[in-house]
Amino acid sequence: MFNLNLGNLTPEQFLTEYWQKKPHIFRQGFKNFEDPISPDELAGLASDEMVESRLVWQKDDQWNAAFGPFESYDHLGEKDWSLIVQAVDYWAPEAAAMIEPFRFIPNWRLDDLMVSFASEGGSVGPHIDHYDVFICQGSGKRHWRVGDRGDLKEYAAHEALLHVEPFEAIIDEILQPGDILYIPPGFPHEGIGLEPSMSFSVGFRTNSATDMMSGLADFMIDKELGKQLIEDPDRDISVTPGVINDRDLARITQHLQTVIGNKKIMTHFAGCYFTTAKHELDIEIPEPLFKTNDTINAISDQPLSRLGGLRCSYFEESVEDGIFYINGEQYNLSASLSAAIKLLCNQQQIELSDISDWTDNDEFMNFITRMINEGYWYF
Ligand code: SIN
Ligand code: CO
Repeated sequence: MFNLNLGNLTPEQFLTEYWQKKPHIFRQGFKNFEDPISPDELAGLASDEMVESRLVWQKDDQWNAAFGPFESYDHLGEKDWSLIVQAVDYWAPEAAAMIEPFRFIPNWRLDDLMVSFASEGGSVGPHIDHYDVFICQGSGKRHWRVGDRGDLKEYAAHEALLHVEPFEAIIDEILQPGDILYIPPGFPHEGIGLEPSMSFSVGFRTNSATDMMSGLADFMIDKELGKQLIEDPDRDISVTPGVINDRDLARITQHLQTVIGNKKIMTHFAGCYFTTAKHELDIEIPEPLFKTNDTINAISDQPLSRLGGLRCSYFEESVEDGIFYINGEQYNLSASLSAAIKLLCNQQQIELSDISDWTDNDEFMNFITRMINEGYWYF
């Protein structure tokens, strides 16, 4: 279990003073920190073609990058390279546990846990990210520089590496094991290994209107929504046929706003969109499949865990009708089960005592059993 220590700040104070506003180092944010996975285990993950990994190295002042899977690192030598593995929380429950202390930020904002190994001098170079990240220093030390937000030029140092021009540091510090550096979107930064080192980045997604509009359009096509045509039975004559006049522009905007302003559509869309996993899930279907009685017996012995990377959310209003979202799908149970649904979405692990009110409820126990049989929850 990881306990987050924000120094003299409460999570509320952190959100008010720093979140999305300015970078900050929490010295010993994780006290007595030990790497939840070793560099060798990270290399093992990077050898799996299902896992997204990258190598970045510098040779003769040139930046290079390659995408995994990787079998060997011998050709890279002792210095100036770094291995980055995305979505480690999907594959390694011990590492996924590092996300739990950050759940004061809701599920829908979470992206993934990225883990990197850097040799001495290893770095991905100076860059800007478009997400919030808590970079937790594991074993070894890294030198971090963070600059202020500003109008900095970005350029491709390699076709797979977007770097930023030199920046003045507002943070220039060495992170030791257990230290945490929080960086909001838009702040240029660079971390360089001072010795072989591990770093664990809990990242939070940010979405542009373009991303969401594109997701909304896909959703509407998929659900066959929004087919009503724009209408103009009240048209006046036009003496300047080239013009799209203000009244028509308002009509076009209004037609689109009937979609965006439709709470039912937006709830359904946002529920599906923000619970869709970004990477392949590590799904294992139990064999033999569980029957409802098996679930009751098993949960009496051990907690039921949610699959790493599986996203579950509900909305304050529609959960009272039993509606919720798991991995891009809408589910609907009886309204009387809304407290059980909230539990499923809010907790990463469920114990018998958590669900004692519903162990006799066939609908709920059948649902959990179905989720176990889909590989979404496991013992
Ligand atoms: C790293 O861990 O090597 C890079 C993390 C980052 O700068 O976002
Ligand atoms: Co970064």
